[in-house]
Amino acid sequence: MTSIRYFSVSTVSRRGQNLTEKIVQKYAQGTNKKVFSGDYVTIKPAHCMSHDNSWPVATKFMGLGAKHVKDNRQIVCTLDHDVQNKSEANLKKYANIEKFAKEQGIDFHPAGKGIGHQIMIEEGYAFPLNLTVASDSHSNTYGGVGSLGTPVVRTDAAAIWATGQTWWQIPPVAKVELVGELAPGVTGKDIIVNLCGLFNNDDVLNHAIEFTGDGVAKLPIDYRLTIANMTTEWGALSGVFPVDQTVVDYYKDRLKRLGNGHPRINEETIAQLSEDAKQYQSDPDAVYAKHLVVDLSTLSPAVSGPNSVKVSTPLAELAPQDIKINKAYLVSCTNSRLSDIQAAAKVLKGKKIAPGVEFYVAAASSNVQKDAEHDGAWNDILEAGATPLPAGCGPCIGLGAGLLKDGEVGISATNRNFKGRMGSKDALAYLASPEVVAASAVLGRIGGPEELEGKPVHPTVPVKKSIQSGSSAATATTEDDGAAVEVLDGFPKQITGELILCDADNINTDGIYPGKYTYQDDITKDEMARVCMENYDGEFKNKTKAGDIIISGYNFGTGSSREQAATCILARGMKLIVAGSFGNIFSRNSINNALLTLEIPDLINKLREKYKGSDELTIRTGWTLTYDVTKAQVTVTDENGDVVLQQKVGELGTNLQDIIVKGGLEGWVKEEIKK
Ligand SMILES: *[C@@H]1O[C@H](CO)[C@@H](O)[C@H](O)[C@H]1NC(C)=O
Ligand SMILES: *[C@@H]1O[C@H](CO)[C@@H](O)[C@H](O)[C@H]1NC(C)=O
Ligand SMILES: *[C@@H]1O[C@H](CO)[C@@H](O)[C@H](O)[C@H]1NC(C)=O
Ligand SMILES: *[C@@H]1O[C@H](CO)[C@@H](O)[C@H](O)[C@H]1NC(C)=O
Repeated sequence: MTSIRYFSVSTVSRRGQNLTEKIVQKYAQGTNKKVFSGDYVTIKPAHCMSHDNSWPVATKFMGLGAKHVKDNRQIVCTLDHDVQNKSEANLKKYANIEKFAKEQGIDFHPAGKGIGHQIMIEEGYAFPLNLTVASDSHSNTYGGVGSLGTPVVRTDAAAIWATGQTWWQIPPVAKVELVGELAPGVTGKDIIVNLCGLFNNDDVLNHAIEFTGDGVAKLPIDYRLTIANMTTEWGALSGVFPVDQTVVDYYKDRLKRLGNGHPRINEETIAQLSEDAKQYQSDPDAVYAKHLVVDLSTLSPAVSGPNSVKVSTPLAELAPQDIKINKAYLVSCTNSRLSDIQAAAKVLKGKKIAPGVEFYVAAASSNVQKDAEHDGAWNDILEAGATPLPAGCGPCIGLGAGLLKDGEVGISATNRNFKGRMGSKDALAYLASPEVVAASAVLGRIGGPEELEGKPVHPTVPVKKSIQSGSSAATATTEDDGAAVEVLDGFPKQITGELILCDADNINTDGIYPGKYTYQDDITKDEMARVCMENYDGEFKNKTKAGDIIISGYNFGTGSSREQAATCILARGMKLIVAGSFGNIFSRNSINNALLTLEIPDLINKLREKYKGSDELTIRTGWTLTYDVTKAQVTVTDENGDVVLQQKVGELGTNLQDIIVKGGLEGWVKEEIKK
């Protein structure tokens, strides 16, 4: 089994809420019910950021007929991705975004100011206990300061610009308990690189993470931001740290620098924060889908890669292997904050980068660079022979100067190392802490700072860890709070159909809707219906009919973000699709286009058992699924009419129903604008 999303967890108890649910509650619109994992809610996030993709968002926004953003205080535009691209086309795009932002009164942060996520934190847009979204996959970063940060797609961003709102399904929540204390020389980066490697079985895929445990208190904010940032690489949709004294102190320190009168970081908001933090704690009877525990004292510096974060190896094992490097990077929002630069500077001071190695450094923001210059750390790094790049994104996402070439090896304090991301597909990319990256740059091979003093690197010990599934469908009862879900006129009270088994994991969007039709704009609905699932099974169209319900395996709809993967299923006359789990973008595209999705791992597991050994790709099961929307309950009967499965699913609130009734998010936005 790959990912597990036990949406039935929400019904084990409808009383206690975890921190994630409590924060969402504050931003959930049009409901007076308590919200839980699995529930679909419309949300009005505190802030919504978009970066270089602000122009595509603006184009979508205007395409929906919107003229004015609903609340210009909610929207933030930052330019950070392609800041080294001085082509006419890019400068034009940047100018368009700036002009649009100025006209709408949106806060605009120009290229060179820094990485959007860093600005969001420095400027208090991503404030603790707030729900903060951005059209970027690393929005999880905000969790480092206790803000529930999660990514949205461009359509969502356009909807928020136009109406202040979009929808969210509250993910299953994983509690990640950090106990004990880090040994000297082990950093925040090492925690997340270790976590990605230790729990590499998609254990937190599409989960919201809450970090807890006595080990958290000693982690500085910069470590927390790095960890939260890379929960994205770990597969999660958010990674929230608790709001403790460290967080409050961070804001007190920010206030000293910002002075009085800042609209978001001021005496009042900090006092309010200390107050709110007491109330925003997970309830004792809150439910978690997973509980992971790691003893921080057993972690050692780790290097992830090459080319995957699922492989992490203790530095103590890699250092003796004499892995020569060509390039080293201290760049990006993940690890280019002041403490990262200082840590690298401490290693580099008075040393020289090895001949033949290029070392690139870029601060997370211009503020950070200024601080690092003032501190002397910036100069120490340049003296050692580093090449500075402008604050903002760059090589980390394969843009600008200093990319990896064919056959080269790089080590980087960034967050992603998939093949080809930092340059050539034939290069190898490793990730490590700023200290290890700096030491490797001096050594000319992967190694640790201790080696520069002639000592061996930090030794490894067996890591103490555990993982538990908090609630499985087996223990989930059908107990509920008795209140029926209200159903809007025009929305079906129940949906029923025969289950069609398409038994595979990771069916990607190309399997669902072949790439060759994706840019064929004039394709008709009938043609779309005909090619639906064609690459998965050429027989699909013959074997299915309108009203059927597809049931598939885990991570359905992974891969490219094409919306037609959802719309071709609708074109086939199917209104609901069931799977063990869905790729996150597919889930969003589905609801955005009025296709309902349900994750029921037990159901695919049962059918797999029944059809074990069958090589038929598309099977008419004779089983009927009935989704009772008012009870938020699914019942499956077999060919004899006997009930084989009955369970609770997340509630579909009236706001979400309204989006479906209006034909999806865009249709809903158009109606809202008219009001
Ligand atoms: C963010 O959260 C703080 C602390 O709970 C609260 O005072 C503030 O009103 C919130 N801001 C927004 C815009 O939601
Ligand atoms: C520079 O930006 C333009 C406009 O966004 C883009 O079309 C072009 O491919 C970019 N150039 C490079 C080298 O990435
Ligand atoms: C997290 O990492 C991503 C990818 O490099 C980056 O875009 C983002 O700005 C980072 N955020 C922070 C503040 O660390
Ligand atoms: C599926 O339908 C096509 C025509 O639409 C037909 O040529 C083909 O033989 C059919 N296959 C089966 C198994 O019925």
